[in-house]
Amino acid sequence: MYKIINVVGARPNFMKIAPIMKQMNGSNLIEPILVHTGQHYDEKMSDLFFNELEIPRPSVNLEVGSDSQAKQVAKIMERFDDICNEVKPDAILVVGDVNSTMACSLVASKLGIKVIHMEAGLRSYDRSMPEEINRLVTDSIADLLLTPSADGTENLLKEGIATDKIFFVGNIMIDTLFHFLPKANKTNILEKLNIESNDYAAITLHRPSNVDNPLNLENILKTFNILQKDIKIVFPIHPRTIKNIKTFGLGHLIDDSPNLLLTEPLGYLEFQKLMSNSKFVITDSGGVQEETTALKIPCITVRENTERPVTITEGSNELVGFDMEKLLYYSHKAMNNQWKESKIPVYWDGNTAVRVIDIIEKYFGLK
Ligand code: UD1
Ligand code: UDP
Repeated sequence: MYKIINVVGARPNFMKIAPIMKQMNGSNLIEPILVHTGQHYDEKMSDLFFNELEIPRPSVNLEVGSDSQAKQVAKIMERFDDICNEVKPDAILVVGDVNSTMACSLVASKLGIKVIHMEAGLRSYDRSMPEEINRLVTDSIADLLLTPSADGTENLLKEGIATDKIFFVGNIMIDTLFHFLPKANKTNILEKLNIESNDYAAITLHRPSNVDNPLNLENILKTFNILQKDIKIVFPIHPRTIKNIKTFGLGHLIDDSPNLLLTEPLGYLEFQKLMSNSKFVITDSGGVQEETTALKIPCITVRENTERPVTITEGSNELVGFDMEKLLYYSHKAMNNQWKESKIPVYWDGNTAVRVIDIIEKYFGLK
């Protein structure tokens, strides 16, 4: 059996690894092992997803927790090195662009263990983002690069990566979305929050560029204060964001906004129900930009750039940067049903995991 360690660490990794674990468990050529780095550790940022998404419990949790970028990466590397020496996998599979993705890829490549990168090739061309560095490093050392969209493949070719290492497989998050949507629809989150379908906006925000800078965070919250006069807003809040709202003394902007409803981070099923029934979404999340495109829900992204351009050129996403007038403008467009036509990109079809396992089995000569 070909031994593959699948790595998870932070919230967006769980939705990506769920269908991969399931498909690998059905293969008689691959032995999948799940390792959690512990980058995210709150019940609502980690544990919850294992039950909801039917992911087997990880064999080991490295329990690295939060720290500065470099220290977190260093801790993951040290602890993952020991695991690799003990388990001796043939390959590791990493997803996305979080610190755990890059740190584990570096360890494996130094030990001569093959690295498979799911969601390869995405580029924001903004190196002030920690994730862009993680993407560049991971892709430069990966042995097998699986891209979610054609732009991903083009970026890798431009960087001189050999064509025969790159495969366009589609978007793995959408496998999870389509599979769990019927179950998500059965949750009663709308009743719990006392809101009605199509009558509210949903928000998520956690990028350092938005929430680590007091002025930017204040501007964004002031804009939500204006917006909530016209529409109810539900804001499941990321731990980084709530921490900064408190540290920067911005809580009064929330208290002064009776129609802005803050909740803890939601489980996957409740969040999909919330998002798919919303009038529109405001976000800076990578995954949420993709899911709204797959759901054809208007999405406004509060960032200067995106590594997921297909969500704009084909999907339902619009970028507004830090321009709060533009954020209000697009919000009103969405409220007035004046959104652009959109389509679901190629291979965002719910069958990505099947393609991935087939490619892995062939690429490493297992069949
Ligand atoms: C990380 C990823 C980001 C991803 C996001 C998904 C990196 C560089 N960043 O950002 O790409 O979009 O996860 O959510 O890998 N915290 C808790 N409990 C937790 C986790 C975090 O309280 O379970 C708090 C801590 O104060 C921590 C802060 O949130 O310092 C930030 O966590 P960290 O994992 O460093 O980065 P994220 O902003 O979550
Ligand atoms: N998500 C969730 N609960 C929430 C907010 C988001 O389950 O309260 C899901 C979201 O639907 C997507 C994933 O978390 O599947 C995205 O993770 P996140 O925004 O933390 O990271 P990013 O995609 O920006 O790296």
